[in-house]
Amino acid sequence: MTKTTTTIFATTFEEDTYKGLTASPKYLLSKYIYDEKGDKLFQDIMHMPEYYLTNCEYAIFKKYTAEIATIFSGEEQGFDLIELGAGDGKKTKILLKHLIELEQNFTYIPIDISQNAIDGLVKNLSKEFPELKVEGEKGEYFEVLENLKTYKSRKKVVLVLGSNIGNLLHPKAIEFLTKLNQSLHKQDLLFIGFDQKKHPQTILNAYNDTTGITEAFNKNHLARINKELGGNFNLNAFIHWEVYDPESGTAKSYLVATEDQEVKIIKLNLHIKFAQWETIHTEISQKYDDTIVKWLANEAGLAIETAFSDEKNYYKNYIFSKKQK
Ligand code: AVI
Repeated sequence: MTKTTTTIFATTFEEDTYKGLTASPKYLLSKYIYDEKGDKLFQDIMHMPEYYLTNCEYAIFKKYTAEIATIFSGEEQGFDLIELGAGDGKKTKILLKHLIELEQNFTYIPIDISQNAIDGLVKNLSKEFPELKVEGEKGEYFEVLENLKTYKSRKKVVLVLGSNIGNLLHPKAIEFLTKLNQSLHKQDLLFIGFDQKKHPQTILNAYNDTTGITEAFNKNHLARINKELGGNFNLNAFIHWEVYDPESGTAKSYLVATEDQEVKIIKLNLHIKFAQWETIHTEISQKYDDTIVKWLANEAGLAIETAFSDEKNYYKNYIFSKKQK
């Protein structure tokens, strides 16, 4: 790696890419996979038979719609239903439909880092449920959490679905849950999906499909660097590699260089050397059990109210409230 002049970063994408690719070992932050192409590839992942997470959470929403709706509603002033990382809202729609049928007074506020995803979802929801009050917002989780504090005084229910929390290492997950907690009042609730530990092969298969969709998703990070930062990564000179450690419950994604190579990234003023079989760590997808979730909740000052799981116990949605002192 050589760096000729001092680089001033115009965006956090530039800065984080620079830091990750000049670190040893190299890494990239998974949040940058989601440009328009990345969003589309993730949609494709959610339709793959191996990626059980989506179907399991969908099944939980289907089976327990009435129970979940009862827990969320019931306040005289109504409530705000805030979804962080809303994506296409497929699972939430089941609940929205039910709440509309019950004539509940609520506003749905989907929040996503992708403006593209938000625009699509709001348009789609307004068409499907004309009577729904919906206010989409673009933003990163931690930014959005600041805004949440200033939300009106009526009850809020915050949804974090898809085991999105699993893309954070435990200390970051605790930080995230703590910040969520700080934005809650006594009556507010968190509804969060946690993918559970299970047969290691089932987990590996979910992140290592034979059709190559996950590989394309992972490599989209390099494609985005090429497109936006003037990089010249040869996507064919890397392979997607997944490992799962059943002890820690951590699935890790890598891109592995199959040959010696040098990559230029013009906007970062950077030349990076890769030795054959050198890795870039690109994502973690954490798996949980009740003990870990209880520990995370406790560290963040949250209490588990209840939980719902699918028939195979592959996946679990927990409802948390602020721990009463
Ligand atoms: C968004 N996130 C929870 C997904 C996961 O399972 O970690 C992203 C993903 N990566 C590969 N496949 C899906």
